[in-house]
Amino acid sequence: MGGVAATLMPMPLTDADTSLLQKEAAAAAQNSYSPYSRFRVGAAILLESSGAVPSNTIVAGTNVENASYRLTTCAEQAAIAAAVSRFGPAIRIRAIAIANLNGAACMPCGACRQSIAEFAAPETPIFYPSASGETVATTLGALLPATFSLARDN
Ligand code: THU
Repeated sequence: MGGVAATLMPMPLTDADTSLLQKEAAAAAQNSYSPYSRFRVGAAILLESSGAVPSNTIVAGTNVENASYRLTTCAEQAAIAAAVSRFGPAIRIRAIAIANLNGAACMPCGACRQSIAEFAAPETPIFYPSASGETVATTLGALLPATFSLARDN
């Protein structure tokens, strides 16, 4: 059974929350280390507030590639690692936005969906650009209906 936190509903978002999150994702993409693909990705996570996490905290990350290609870190995973490093293991994701500077569609890859699932609920909103540049607003549950999970010790 997953921990209780894994089933908490995310707090609702305003349009201002969403556009700030998208802006932060695009800003993070400016720092992309992507000499191989030249695909510059940013992800921004709005965290649920708690004792440790002030309200409206956003943590962002970018993709960090490696000459040994499979060692590349996606932007979403970089953002998650930054959030846990900064606020500890109890973080919860309220929403996540992904952006890229290539004008391409940019939904989270399969591995990132599973990484997001570790800290989010099926209802957690995910925003990403479609190929036409429109924002797609979806949820983790829609993108990853059958999440792998393990019992937790906490
Ligand atoms: N990438 C991400 O950062 N997030 C994704 O969800 C998909 C792909 C990165 C990895 C690699 O540096 C580049 O985009 C091309 O795959």
